[in-house]
Amino acid sequence: MEKTKKQSLGIAISSVLMIVAEASIKGGYWFSGSGMAVADINPNPFTHLFCAFANIDSTTFKVTISSSDAYPFSIFTQTVQGKNPCVRTLLSIGGGGGPAIAAVFSQMATTAGRRKAFIDSSISVARANNFHGIDVDWEYPSSSTDKTNFGALTRELRAAVNQEALTSGKSPLLLAAAVAGSDQISPLQYYPGPDITNNLDIVNAMTYDLFPSYAYPTSTQPPAPLYNPQGLFSADQGINQWLNTLGVPPYKLALGLPFYGYKWTLSNPSVNGLFAPTTQGLGAIKYKDIKAVGATPNYNASFVTNYCYNGTNWYGYDDVDSIKAKVSYAKIKGLLGYFAWNVEQDNNWALSQAASTAWGV
Ligand SMILES: *[C@@H]1O[C@H](CO)[C@@H](O)[C@H](O)[C@H]1NC(C)=O
Ligand SMILES: *[C@@H]1O[C@H](CO)[C@@H](O)[C@H](O)[C@H]1NC(C)=O
Repeated sequence: MEKTKKQSLGIAISSVLMIVAEASIKGGYWFSGSGMAVADINPNPFTHLFCAFANIDSTTFKVTISSSDAYPFSIFTQTVQGKNPCVRTLLSIGGGGGPAIAAVFSQMATTAGRRKAFIDSSISVARANNFHGIDVDWEYPSSSTDKTNFGALTRELRAAVNQEALTSGKSPLLLAAAVAGSDQISPLQYYPGPDITNNLDIVNAMTYDLFPSYAYPTSTQPPAPLYNPQGLFSADQGINQWLNTLGVPPYKLALGLPFYGYKWTLSNPSVNGLFAPTTQGLGAIKYKDIKAVGATPNYNASFVTNYCYNGTNWYGYDDVDSIKAKVSYAKIKGLLGYFAWNVEQDNNWALSQAASTAWGV
């Protein structure tokens, strides 16, 4: 009798839980490898902070936290909530560390037993460290098999998280994933749209690194344009594909904002606009390091990008203008919100504040 009551209550609660969507997300990733101490995070411009990254053991397929991350991860939630009690924290698993991590994800997802090892350990590690959610950063599912298995993973993760909430009496862990923001980054056809819609709360679309200097060394580029009047790929095009082709509703999607840009060497310092000839691409550079150059920012509203230059040094990036325009786009489009990679690269929280203000409440 008692058991039956609990069970029917459980069913009622879990069906309610399924339909409660997050109100909005002003997200930011903190990356332990960035060197910023957890105590130095300003959580006030954010509703959600992502703590990156936990790993997957390549033999057991369990989620683990490296020994050097154990302490900062364990104090992450209490530290940021000490300054902003409303902020929610998620443990990010995986990340863009290269093909080896992607291969472990792919192998993990192939069998129900391995998926269970991943799921059960992700929940226990997240709970043991007081996180409010789990963020799966598989970069990237890249075959039809991966797509099928990622779908199963999201379904089983959702079931396990709901079950754990009933057992523990706590709010269910939030479920997020970081996903390719454009075919330019990784083919979106390998994402299971309906499973993502049905099982995840937050879908972080990584709409950046579209035109990085390592891939385009011969001319300056807008690295993460919102629009692309000259070609196919842009953040807007990627978001529209997530909405229209994959069928994920806007209220699940967060737009990715890069807090970094890319550097090039101009061939001729007086030919210094977008698509100017260059002698080389020089890799990524933090927003704060671009600001330290002290050069005047230029804004191109057709692409929604900023750039600046000094002599032959040319930087394509997002400054306050681009960030505000992108956040306004996310709001008008009815998206869940936005997220930034990563908070340490900001310059005195200028982009974080500009984004938060542009979104409003
Ligand atoms: C621009 O570069 C020149 C030399 O290359 C340097 O002397 C100057 O300080 C730089 N300006 C800024 C604003 O960094
Ligand atoms: C943006 O840059 C392109 C390429 O240089 C140029 O044709 C266009 O006029 C610029 N748009 C704005 C608004 O500055």
